Amino acid sequence: MKEKIDQLEQKIAEAKLGGGKDRVAAQHKKGKLTARERLHFLMDEGTFEEIGMLVTHRATDFGLEKEKYLGDGVITGYGRINGRLVYVYAQDFTVFGGSLSETHAKKICRIMDLAMQNGAPVIGLNDSGGARIQEGVVSLGGYADIFYRNVRASGVIPQISAIMGPCAGGAVYSPAITDFIMMVENTSYMFVTGPNVVKTVTHEDVTSEELGGAITHATKSGVTHFTSANGLECIQMIKKLLSYMPQNCEEEAPSIVYHAADESRPKLDAIIPGHPNQPYDIREVIEEVIDEGSFFEVHKDFAENIVVGFARLAGKSIGIIANQPAHLAGVLDIHASTKAARFVRFCDCFNIPLLVFEDVPGFLPGTDQEWNGIITNGAKLLYAFSEATVPRITVITRKAYGGAYDVMNSKHIGADMNYAWPSAEIAVMGAKGAAEIIFRKEIQEAKNPTEKLTEKEQEYNRLFANPYKAAEHGYVDEVVRPSDTRKKLIAAFDMLKNKVDKLPKKKHGNIPL
Ligand code: HXC
Repeated sequence: MKEKIDQLEQKIAEAKLGGGKDRVAAQHKKGKLTARERLHFLMDEGTFEEIGMLVTHRATDFGLEKEKYLGDGVITGYGRINGRLVYVYAQDFTVFGGSLSETHAKKICRIMDLAMQNGAPVIGLNDSGGARIQEGVVSLGGYADIFYRNVRASGVIPQISAIMGPCAGGAVYSPAITDFIMMVENTSYMFVTGPNVVKTVTHEDVTSEELGGAITHATKSGVTHFTSANGLECIQMIKKLLSYMPQNCEEEAPSIVYHAADESRPKLDAIIPGHPNQPYDIREVIEEVIDEGSFFEVHKDFAENIVVGFARLAGKSIGIIANQPAHLAGVLDIHASTKAARFVRFCDCFNIPLLVFEDVPGFLPGTDQEWNGIITNGAKLLYAFSEATVPRITVITRKAYGGAYDVMNSKHIGADMNYAWPSAEIAVMGAKGAAEIIFRKEIQEAKNPTEKLTEKEQEYNRLFANPYKAAEHGYVDEVVRPSDTRKKLIAAFDMLKNKVDKLPKKKHGNIPL
């Protein structure tokens, strides 16, 4: 028996060596952790159970039958993160550059199937040269098997993709389907076609980093939701992100024990500037209202005119969507709409209540927006809010103008509670624009048109630049002192905690994609 056990030990040691010492050293030289090191830092100590450690590929072309590595370039298994079950795969760049073979794909599919059957999140640590070139079509088939499972799992279990090295070609589409993407600065990139192909086709000179590095995708494309300075930081972010979400769509996110205290936040009474066009940072409002230090911003550097992220209120996980007056006056544009819509849908999939802070002057005008489809894209946010069945509350801090008033989780599209601060202005448009249209003739014929315009502007302001018309109609449930906001929200979310709302029976809706 000893001999047999020794043989087993030898195989385990061989598997743990991956592609060998030299390749491990090369990985470290690039500033990257190995797949096993990543798992060591990600999982609670001693909880990781590996599945398929001894799997090898079956390819025989290009002399591949002579080059086999136990595990075949991906470590798969399950374990615990902060005590909660997760399924995980980590691609091992030291084995064929982490490239995806038929068996490599099968290992990933196996843990995805287990995750679905057992209702727990899947985390993918990606670091791969893409399809195993020597295997051809079976590798492509393997990718498609994963994509199919990503789609089936969408909305059932949370899926998180960390990009910790290359991720190119069709390989990008698995992360793209998952709920969240995290990229590591300087060591990861994602693109459908790399710099060489770009140069041939469009004659553009661009580096991998410029084309598809972490900063590019965080700021320009919005493909990544988070960036981190290094692999370790990325792993910490995965753990934090998971803490806000449930294990699956049937469960609720874990909450933290909360001891009620004085919920008044006097700082909020002085946060709105004296002039309606003066900016302020909506993050200050968020930080005051939520449990201290609990805000975890998503998509921080993309479409900064809207802020989205997770937080806790009285210990419970919530999703926040907030117009940002400090950036483009908080206007809704294409990117802001799609960013917020995707976040709303994630929260709704996983029973995370939504809190909206509204200060929006409307949709961004211009040919760029119209020609690129602000109509379709703005509709995504409207659709996402309208179909969300989780508890939903809106706080109008200042402007709620035009169609954006409707879109930003108004009562008309299903919000459960709508609060307004006394500084709220709920109207079809700003006073100047409104006065110029409805009193045009009167202003033109006046002895002093400028004076008349100001007079009419003031008249419009008196009537509409406040929350009281909306409150008269019940569109606003209560006008609250800003300092009372936290107290009101804790009470209202508690009142809504057993909310049951079902969509009409259908196969699925047809969101304007
Ligand atoms: C097989 C691969 C491989 C691949 C890398 N390797 N990519 N083996 N299939 N796709 C191997 C290398 O031969 C090398 O083996 C080791 O991995 C490390 O690669 P290096 O090139 O030395 O590393 P580096 O300089 O860091 O460059 C990494 C890289 C480069 C940029 C990813 O390897 C590369 O360009 N690879 C090919 C990428 C690609 O074109 N993939 C196919 C994309 S199409 P040794 O033995 O020397 O250690 C695709 C379609 C998916 O993926 C479609 C899904 C629908």
